[in-house]
Amino acid sequence: MCGIVGYAGEVQAAPVLLSGLEKLEYRGYDSAGMAVYDGEAIRVAKAKGRLQVLREITEDGAQVPGVIGIGHTRWATHGAPSDVNSHPQVSVSGKFAVVHNGIIENYLQLKEKLMKKGVAFVSETDTEVVAQLLEYYYKGDIVDAVIQVLRRVEGSYALGVLCEDAPDQIVAVRKDSPLIVGLGQRENFIASDVPAILSRTRDIYRLNDNEIVILKKDSVQVLNMDLEPVEKQVCHIDWDVSAAEKGGYEHFMAKEIMEQPKAVRDTISPRLRGGRVVFDEISLTAEQLRSFRKIYVVACGSAYHVGVVAKYVLEQNVRIPVEVDVASEFRYRQPILGPDTLVLVISQSGETADTLAALREARRLGAYTLSIVNVVGSTIANESDDVIYTWAGPEIAVATTKAYSTQLAVVYLLTIYLADLLGRLTPQQYADYIAELEALPEKIDAILKNRANIQYLASKFFNVRDVFFIGRNLDYAMSLEGSLKLKEISYIHSDAYAAGELKHGTISLVEDGTLVIALATQRTLFDKMMSNVKEVKTRGAVVLGVTTSLQRQIEKEADYVFYIPDACPMMLPSLSVIPLQLFAYYVSSMKGCDIDKPRNLAKSVTVE
Ligand code: G6P
Repeated sequence: MCGIVGYAGEVQAAPVLLSGLEKLEYRGYDSAGMAVYDGEAIRVAKAKGRLQVLREITEDGAQVPGVIGIGHTRWATHGAPSDVNSHPQVSVSGKFAVVHNGIIENYLQLKEKLMKKGVAFVSETDTEVVAQLLEYYYKGDIVDAVIQVLRRVEGSYALGVLCEDAPDQIVAVRKDSPLIVGLGQRENFIASDVPAILSRTRDIYRLNDNEIVILKKDSVQVLNMDLEPVEKQVCHIDWDVSAAEKGGYEHFMAKEIMEQPKAVRDTISPRLRGGRVVFDEISLTAEQLRSFRKIYVVACGSAYHVGVVAKYVLEQNVRIPVEVDVASEFRYRQPILGPDTLVLVISQSGETADTLAALREARRLGAYTLSIVNVVGSTIANESDDVIYTWAGPEIAVATTKAYSTQLAVVYLLTIYLADLLGRLTPQQYADYIAELEALPEKIDAILKNRANIQYLASKFFNVRDVFFIGRNLDYAMSLEGSLKLKEISYIHSDAYAAGELKHGTISLVEDGTLVIALATQRTLFDKMMSNVKEVKTRGAVVLGVTTSLQRQIEKEADYVFYIPDACPMMLPSLSVIPLQLFAYYVSSMKGCDIDKPRNLAKSVTVE
């Protein structure tokens, strides 16, 4: 989703903005631009397409002089991707330039009002309304104009504002859309996310809603809406810069797939002590847990698929009913929530708009909220009653892999922890689970070492038109993720079905040569799965089976097989997801797709 970078310093701003925007490309965008004060006026350069186009028209920024500026990558919402709809948007006289992430929901109303007063608009964007309103309310004090505008706009925003009358400062503000401040030596930054500024500083402020920043080369002032100073804590980012670089891999996705054994180990190890699961970070008590009648799991995209796994494993082990919902549906279906419900929220970024709104709704209704989040200090993490961090490190590829795997790991840890709090596990079951958890990273590693087999399978099928993923129980949850991975990066149509449900309609789509990927890892359901495999084979399907090394009988039914190591049933998703990720990756690579930045998708979806 849109990316913002702002710079106030001593060196030429445009190249700094371009390299910052490059680090935000992963968020997904379809146009890019910048506004820089060149000593006399604000100059704007912007263009539809990849950042490379902006680089070309500005000669890598060299053609744009000036030491203060704002830059933007736009993911179109209001108005198609085009030069004129790109940000920055400027006010009618060119006095104000604005970059914006989010949506101004009442922009049409505001636009009509301004048009009646004679203001001419050039773009279809909601953002232009902000630029025009700033000029309309400006009486010589920029911060005052910003406050006037904030009082009138509804929706979500992170805004960066440059004004010709105060060419040494950027004014920035956020509400429901992420924005950070980077603190450098005689230079300061605003940005949507840390990678944009990591090469220049590691000290940041994370802004809260309705905090206004006045950013200059030598100072950063943070104010609340009453213009009182706000004390901010400096947060030091200790990731290695290389964590956000490709490190020799062709794509971030390949690197992140290969990092999974480490990410899973980093997530599990700190929570295992003396053979016990320890969560120092959560305050939920056994008494509270006993009072819960229901658990809701709420998330979007792949994080929702982790939620589907969580439903099966929590219900089976903790014995509290669990419902899993996509966040955009949950919040508008009047969920029945109260102090007797636990709402588990899962999000890599911690900023997904729908997930955040669902969390807020849950809190408003008095539920206990526990989030599983990757980005430290993100809004969802800050606003939950308890947060458990996944230690995946920065994930750059749009298609999630290592964050997904660490979320699964937390789900197992949490399941064991909660089941134990309620006395549902025998000492032997508990000890077996711990041993299985400890063995997971090595087993993932063993599958990755065998990746050439998946590459071979991808070479057989990379030009198919449709793929169906089928499975039962946890294998159904994995089918959902395998199918999503494939379609998001290879653009091949694919769908996932509960294998037992096929015959109620979907099987009519199976014809000669249709590829069916059958997940059959769960021992107790293996025979049932084989019946479903027979059903599709009889109708001409080519079947690629995924199962554990103990279930070799699959060879009688499937045309191709990929084996994963055996593990306890609950943790098999962590192993079966690896060939599915690799399959999607290799197919996408063989088709020549833009693996890390698939069309139309955004890494972090900060609008509804
Ligand atoms: C986007 C990403 C997905 C991700 C989903 C939820 O759609 O492309 O990979 O699963 O958002 O994101 P979150 O940051 O909340 O996990």
